[in-house]
Amino acid sequence: MKLLKLSFVLALSLLFATEVMAQDKQFGYVGAKGCKTCHNTKKQGRQYKIWLKTKHAQAYKTLASEEAKAIAKKKGIEDPQKADECLQCHVTGHGVDAKLLGKKYSIEEGVSCESCHGPGSVYKKKKTMIAISKGEIDPASVGLVIPDEKTCKKCHNEKSPTYKEFDFDKYYEKIKHEKPKKS
Ligand code: HEC
Ligand code: HEC
Ligand code: HEC
Ligand code: HEC
Repeated sequence: MKLLKLSFVLALSLLFATEVMAQDKQFGYVGAKGCKTCHNTKKQGRQYKIWLKTKHAQAYKTLASEEAKAIAKKKGIEDPQKADECLQCHVTGHGVDAKLLGKKYSIEEGVSCESCHGPGSVYKKKKTMIAISKGEIDPASVGLVIPDEKTCKKCHNEKSPTYKEFDFDKYYEKIKHEKPKKS
């Protein structure tokens, strides 16, 4: 009886250990091109092409504009494209361990898919993606975020030197990239 109890406790703690390890698993950034392979077809809704036309895709380049330099200068910042104070909202995965940035990741992509959806190295596998869309796995367990207003407000807030009032419905209309409904 005692032995049984002990092995039960052992099994339980092993279960917890693997659970903790799974949570600790670090998700890496693959870059927008890592999503493009599948999310640029007409059937899926051409998310890549739509995103490329939004201002988000220009957010890093914007930091090289005269306007950006003028804002930065007032704060004593020399080059906004190199300053944490600006990059934190203008590029994807800023500040993470460089080991987590995949080969296709590029700072030039500005605010890309993974800024809103979370780092994709684990969830981007086709099998995983399909299981998520069928509701078979919890998106969060593989690092996928289904973004909402809160996600946007991490950047669209008063800490932005050019902050404009953020109206989710209005802003969402400008960036939406939904999968076409089957007819
Ligand atoms: C990682 C930071 C970040 C997140 C998260 C983010 N944005 Fe943005 N967004 C920006 C930046 C930076 C710009 C400005 C880009 C530029 O002009 O170069 C911007 C610009 C925009 C614009 C263009 C505004 C204009 O003046 O035309 C829209 C629309 C927008 N975002 C919608 C959203 C929505 C909706 C969400 C959430 C689903 C969101 N954003 C999440 C950083 C972010
Ligand atoms: C500014 C934030 C933002 C960026 C950048 C972004 N998305 Fe999204 N995405 C959203 C939001 C918000 C939704 C809607 C979530 C929901 O279903 O409520 C969404 C939905 C989706 C969906 C589900 C569509 C559907 O109708 O089922 C896919 C697929 C997707 N995004 C892929 C991408 C890809 C690929 C990129 C990059 C090329 C990208 N997203 C960039 C915010 C973003
Ligand atoms: C190997 C192909 C593949 C790659 C690469 C891929 N996806 Fe997907 N993704 C899919 C498929 C297939 C679906 C299911 C679409 C459907 O419902 O038919 C999906 C669904 C999604 C959904 C909707 C999930 C839901 O709640 O239903 C989002 C959001 C998404 N992908 C984002 C991304 C992002 C962001 C990337 C890049 C980091 C990415 N995907 C890379 C194939 C892929
Ligand atoms: C808290 C997030 C955040 C930080 C930090 C941030 N930005 Fe932005 N930036 C945004 C968002 C969001 C937008 C889109 C417009 C808006 O609502 O502010 C934007 C837009 C811009 C624009 C385009 C002008 C416009 O009116 O759309 C410039 C230029 C800019 N930012 C420069 C900078 C510079 C320079 C820094 C660093 C000193 C910086 N930003 C720091 C989030 C941020």
